[in-house]
Amino acid sequence: MEIKRVLVTGGTGFIGSETVIKLIEAGYDPVIVDNLSNSKDAVIGRIKTITGVRPTFYKVDCCDEEAFRKVFEKEKFQAVIHFAGLKAVGESVVKPIEYYSNNLESTLVLLKLMKEFDVRNIVFSSSATVYGVPKRVPLVETDPVGSATNPYGETKIMIERILTDTQFAWKDLNVALLRYFNPIGGHPSGLLGEDPNGIPNNLMPYICQVAVGKRDHLRIWGDNYPTPDGTGVRDYIHVLDLAEGHVATLKKLATDPGLVIYNLGTGKGTSVLEMVHAFEKATGVKIPYTIEAARAGDVATNYAATDKAFNELGWKAKYNIIDACRDAYNFQKKNPNGIE
Ligand code: WQD
Repeated sequence: MEIKRVLVTGGTGFIGSETVIKLIEAGYDPVIVDNLSNSKDAVIGRIKTITGVRPTFYKVDCCDEEAFRKVFEKEKFQAVIHFAGLKAVGESVVKPIEYYSNNLESTLVLLKLMKEFDVRNIVFSSSATVYGVPKRVPLVETDPVGSATNPYGETKIMIERILTDTQFAWKDLNVALLRYFNPIGGHPSGLLGEDPNGIPNNLMPYICQVAVGKRDHLRIWGDNYPTPDGTGVRDYIHVLDLAEGHVATLKKLATDPGLVIYNLGTGKGTSVLEMVHAFEKATGVKIPYTIEAARAGDVATNYAATDKAFNELGWKAKYNIIDACRDAYNFQKKNPNGIE
């Protein structure tokens, strides 16, 4: 069936907002639902500045079934991209009940409303974290889903299972599970980027805050891993590539494929020290760092096999980490205190 109007839950977030831009540019009609618990409604205006289109926005919590139903009653969706959810690994260890109830309830309410209004396509924002501690790299979609090292990752595993079982019972439903590796970067305009609340957990926003003098230095969590330089290796993918991957996936769902699973990564591993040097090369800004003890729950190496997404979606990452460092820094410089 033709897909035109797309519900984007979490659409004012880092990946959600870039995806909304790509959807508009590809001729879709995205509608954002977001409770603004970890993003700002100023993002809507910035999407308009970039695309000329102000997407419809509802400030609604996906767990609020009554309010969320009103959106479905008003808008005729053909597909959903489900980004909404709590996503801080460390925080999830401290607040498991909040993570399980928010991430699972929001998904269950969403699926109930999709069934009620016969919306038959969903793309889910999953994560490489579902593989647990990799037995081998690069990770392939058929590799076993492990046990995550934190409640955040466990919610991703559980939601993948909920969607798999729902699709088995509701044959008309098409489900795409997109397993992101490490999203970084920002919109080249500098208007949108990663804008975490508080002290960043993730590497790139922390480096950017050091670069603008907001943080004194980077702490590198461990340099004794079995990797070329001892620091952790990850597959860092530009958020623009990630957003494009969602547009390619919607096109795939329109062919009624049932349940599909794709890694969205670059297929290349980069260590923390390599990232620091890439950032310095891309920006000319020196990043002082200290070496600290390894962080609990971290794996040594994690990067994607990307053949399946290329063969079935015709999609592959176009940007490299120098592009991503440049765009992430540009956003941070223009928004030293985040989006206000
Ligand atoms: C990357 C590397 C750290 C910060 C997690 C989730 C994933 C996704 C992204 C949500 C590791 C090192 C980091 C720092 C450091 N989730 N590091 N100093 O843990 O690979 O992935 O975030 O969006 O689902 O699992 O990302 O950026 O935290 O760490 O040395 O201050 O950088 O040890 O090797 P991670 P990360």
